[in-house]
Amino acid sequence: MKENQVDFSTYLKQYPDENGFFGKYGGSYIPPELQKAMEEITQAYLTIGKSSKFIHELRRIRKEFQGRPTPVSYLERLSSQIGGAHLYVKREDLNHTGAHKLNHCMGEALLAKWMGKKKVIAETGAGQHGVALATAAAYFGLECDVYMGAVDIQKQAPNVARMKILGARVIEVTDGLAALKEAVDAAFAAYAREYKDAIYCIGSVVGPHPFPMMVRDFQSIVGIEAREQFLEMTGELPDAVVACVGGGSNAMGMFSGFLNDPVDIYGIEPLGRGASLGDHAASLQFGTEGIMHGFNSIMLKDEQGNPAPVYSVASGLDYPSSGPEHAFLRDLGRVKYDVVSDDETIDAFFTLSRMEGIIPAIESAHAVAYAMKLAKTMKNGSILINLSGRGDKDMDYILEHYGIR
Ligand SMILES: Cc1ncc(COP(=O)(O)O)c(C=O)c1O
Repeated sequence: MKENQVDFSTYLKQYPDENGFFGKYGGSYIPPELQKAMEEITQAYLTIGKSSKFIHELRRIRKEFQGRPTPVSYLERLSSQIGGAHLYVKREDLNHTGAHKLNHCMGEALLAKWMGKKKVIAETGAGQHGVALATAAAYFGLECDVYMGAVDIQKQAPNVARMKILGARVIEVTDGLAALKEAVDAAFAAYAREYKDAIYCIGSVVGPHPFPMMVRDFQSIVGIEAREQFLEMTGELPDAVVACVGGGSNAMGMFSGFLNDPVDIYGIEPLGRGASLGDHAASLQFGTEGIMHGFNSIMLKDEQGNPAPVYSVASGLDYPSSGPEHAFLRDLGRVKYDVVSDDETIDAFFTLSRMEGIIPAIESAHAVAYAMKLAKTMKNGSILINLSGRGDKDMDYILEHYGIR
């Protein structure tokens, strides 16, 4: 499939189709009783979520509570040290709770409230989505259950404490690798039991329809703001935009603002320790088509065709699949997907901290690492990176495992 088969000026209205498909990817592959619950959410999103009252309320919340718009910053010292293209960052680290995740959580929780639900349920990897949802639940007066792998609970202790302080229940998941995939499995199982009173607030552009569409739409504020701000700062568009891809929500938020522009778009996955299965979580790079967690996309599979074990230094990126829209944009050739290793990421983490006074989330440091390499290959021009979150949550882990570099 080729880029020119799609009209990007109307793309966001055309995709997904009414059944949640981006080409052959996406859809909803879930048991019938859950399908009913998904249809309820879809209907609510397409009516309540698109009403001017809802949109006005969400705009007010973004401004008065989240602190939006977040700025775009020019990385002056880093750009002059690297040479080549000029580097800019969209500062989602300055969004309330320290990452982009609150953008979709406030939308999902507002919808839950207006649907009359009492509880929100979610999974979390790095803990950022859990913290964001716990924050949204506190704001709207909803109960909040967050499922989290035991390994991630160890790695992301500050975020676990935050969720508990905010009044959420953090439920430890010990199955399998006790990481993000298992947390999603457990959260889905809980939702299947509780869907009458609860709504599942998924943490990325993954899961059955309508989540990939709804989360993208709520995150699109990132790309809308960034495009406007960049034009105002420089008088032109960036030559390239770069974002890390776990499930792919921060990337879709950013990319959606630039799909119809003459801008190169790069999604960066974690190469972890290397290219062998089990050492990375780069599904778009190494995976094949398959269904998991209720949606069809590209995924990493073991010999039996089940989701393969994955690894990344970034808990928020170690997921064996990616959002269906990323698979679609990859096949179209509109977005180029590439990888960076743990080592390159750790270097970028320290470099950005020291050169610019910004400690990035280890997830976001993947995008920074790639942009630093890309800048060197360009004689001039500019690269806009989505700095999806701040790195406070990662400091203890990095100091313990890598020391000061
Ligand atoms: C700061 C940050 N960036 C990126 C991600 C990856 O998620 P997504 O690919 O949905 O943006 C996470 C996930 O926890 C995160 O915390």
